[in-house]
Amino acid sequence: MRVQPAAAVVGGVGVPAVKGICQRGALLAAIGDGTSELRNFGHAADTDSALDAVAALGADVDEPQPGLVRIEGRGLRGLTPPDGPIDCGNAGTVLRLLAGVLAGQEGRYTLVGDESLSTRPVRVDEPLNRMGARVATTDGHPPVTVEGAGPALVPIRYELPVASAQLKSSVLLAGLLAGDGPTAVVETAPSRDHTERLLRALGLRVTRAGAEIRVWPAERVPPLDLDIPGDFSSAAPFVVAATLLAGSELRIQGVNVNPTRTGLLDVLERMGSRVAVFNRRSAGGEPVADLQVRSATLQATTIGADEVPRLVDELPLFALAAAHARGESVVEGAQELRVKETDRIETVTTALRALGIRIAATDDGFRVRGVPARPRGGTMDSAGDHRIAMLGAVAGLSSREGVEIRGADAVAVSFPGFFELLESVTQR
Ligand code: S3P
Repeated sequence: MRVQPAAAVVGGVGVPAVKGICQRGALLAAIGDGTSELRNFGHAADTDSALDAVAALGADVDEPQPGLVRIEGRGLRGLTPPDGPIDCGNAGTVLRLLAGVLAGQEGRYTLVGDESLSTRPVRVDEPLNRMGARVATTDGHPPVTVEGAGPALVPIRYELPVASAQLKSSVLLAGLLAGDGPTAVVETAPSRDHTERLLRALGLRVTRAGAEIRVWPAERVPPLDLDIPGDFSSAAPFVVAATLLAGSELRIQGVNVNPTRTGLLDVLERMGSRVAVFNRRSAGGEPVADLQVRSATLQATTIGADEVPRLVDELPLFALAAAHARGESVVEGAQELRVKETDRIETVTTALRALGIRIAATDDGFRVRGVPARPRGGTMDSAGDHRIAMLGAVAGLSSREGVEIRGADAVAVSFPGFFELLESVTQR
């Protein structure tokens, strides 16, 4: 895929539904009573992995009209092992959260993933084993087997070793199925809270006191009735493109602005961006708004460990914004980037250097020497990582010579139709 330089991005777009809410919605619906409805479901490889998984476990999945997904739940402990392994594809969220749900089921389940997921740390085995399930990894990686403890699962208090929403959510979901007391998870830094909000919206008991989140066992999970807003991470390439290209004016409608996800807006704001957040409303316990983005000239900034979880998936795009900003920008405390779909410290720095950007990797982040001028462009490789492929597209628009993206089809993991939508607002 070749993305040519652009003058500006102008107009309006809507982006696919929050990937993590589609996945969480599918998993909860599967252990729900009755028929759940997920509206504006965003099909992508990662969300389809969630639907396929719950179908394999016995939930009936149906789509009477495009984007309206109906799931007939099997009840709290009603999932049953399929004949073969459950393929989670590229989706760490599906693998880790599903393991939490399966910890409280009966039977033995095997979870596998694609080449990338098979190299990533599973991590959930430790807390789920403490709860009484038997979770075994392959040297810490998938394939994973889960022998559910059924009603014998017990609550624990778990201090997260890293700021990971997937690890947190896995234990919270297991907590719904565990004994008769609350399961507690203590965070090192606030990470996305879609699971907590979804459970609360279902009327289930979840509390937070400081860094500690507690969930009580559920008698039943009621069916979901959910309108899923647009994903901030899918809006982010558009936000950065409109910020970098002079004369841009872009509206992005119906975006989830959950404050645990919108760290990029705060970082860009202190760099000098012009983003208006308006039409605030709420849907399914989540804040939603429209964004209006105008181009701006940016100043360098530093991002530290505390801020990282709120923009962890947007750090590749931040690197590009920093390349256009005046001064040196630094990201620290972002070692989690090393265990994403790719080692994103490596893939971001390699990809952007190939385009003439002055960026250097550090152990726990990167440093970017910004120049308020367009980088040259050239050829980069997504390494099969959807966020790196989207980074390449925005880099292409804001370059002098355009960008050739190898492995551009990786965008289908979270955002099929991304290139077409970007092209529809591009002016050359
Ligand atoms: C996700 C959490 C994040 C994020 C991932 C999705 C989630 O990972 O990077 O893309 O849906 O909970 P962590 O578990 O490392 O926070």
